[in-house]
Amino acid sequence: MIPLTRPLLGTEEQTELAAVLATGMLVQGVRVADFEAKVAAHTGRRHAIAVSNGTSALELALRALDIATGDRVLCPDLTWPSPAHAILACGAEPVLVEVDAAQWDAGPEQFRAALLQHPRAAIVIDQFGNPARVPEIAAALPGVPLIVDAACSLGSRLNGVPCGALGVIACTSFHPRKVITTGEGGMCLTDDDALAERLRELRNHGQSAPGRFARASGNHRLTELAAAVGSVQMTRLPGIVQARRTLADRYHKGLSGLPITMQQSAPGADANHQTFGVLLAANKGAAERDRVVQALIARGVQAGALSYALHALPQLAACAQAAAEQGRSLATSASIVARGFAIPLYPGLSDAEQDQVIAALHAVLA
Ligand SMILES: Cc1ncc(COP(=O)(O)O)c(C=O)c1O
Repeated sequence: MIPLTRPLLGTEEQTELAAVLATGMLVQGVRVADFEAKVAAHTGRRHAIAVSNGTSALELALRALDIATGDRVLCPDLTWPSPAHAILACGAEPVLVEVDAAQWDAGPEQFRAALLQHPRAAIVIDQFGNPARVPEIAAALPGVPLIVDAACSLGSRLNGVPCGALGVIACTSFHPRKVITTGEGGMCLTDDDALAERLRELRNHGQSAPGRFARASGNHRLTELAAAVGSVQMTRLPGIVQARRTLADRYHKGLSGLPITMQQSAPGADANHQTFGVLLAANKGAAERDRVVQALIARGVQAGALSYALHALPQLAACAQAAAEQGRSLATSASIVARGFAIPLYPGLSDAEQDQVIAALHAVLA
């Protein structure tokens, strides 16, 4: 079976892990500081605060902005549920935002349509590693702080600006499905000194100094082991992104002519192709998509669901109802989720394996 993804790990990560174990210093030490410095330098940020995963990064970002009960936060409807779950975890209300049919992401038009809900903040997503149109979204939402969910987009750029550089706080993930990995891991990136200090407190039991508990918070620290892997992974990032772009170009050529569409990037975007998604034609639905996915799996190609329409999740039913009552359609998001699936793309995917994926798609969609 050709897997959907596989992280690129080598002997360097193993050597670094052994070195950390030999020190006996396993949590929040020099390795975490080094990893933070590397990601800060890559994104041009003043501060990088490593945390235990991307979902924690989002929740701490919201809490650092004092988002709490009674607040509304805009969130694209089409995504892994973490951004909405983070909003709910703060006691706030997600306002689900429709996505664009070509870019599969909420853009300035969609965010502007939700402005009447008086949001306290907005989460903007770099969808599947494709940079969101952050400057245009910021202009469409005057006075609304943006948290950029850059979970998937490390290594991507918008008009030369690295993803993770924009937004009051940007949040990354280092889950193995992401472009670089630490197993579990995440990071908050910001240029604001006060927010950075808060984020450091929030990740460490609310401590403003050792033993001084300034606020209630959990343990969201990253281990030295994860950070050691992350520092090595950062040195691999340019090569990984280049390999992914080459593979994406081969897919664009090899799949042209089939009755499918692929995600379009915003003008000026240079994507890392963290997830390579494909949509069946507009007259198809989830049943046909499931048939195609099963047929690909039967041919040795691991295909899988592309993403989720948050309004269909039971814990977000009230948000779905609110959108309906406000006359804000989420039909594009639903349609993309029903017709979409992801296909294998990762740096170790050989040309022969990729040709097998392309041939399988031609056979299944014939
Ligand atoms: C857009 C998006 N945001 C947040 C997350 C959460 O990251 P993590 O799995 O590290 O908690 C993910 C992925 O899992 C994601 O795809």
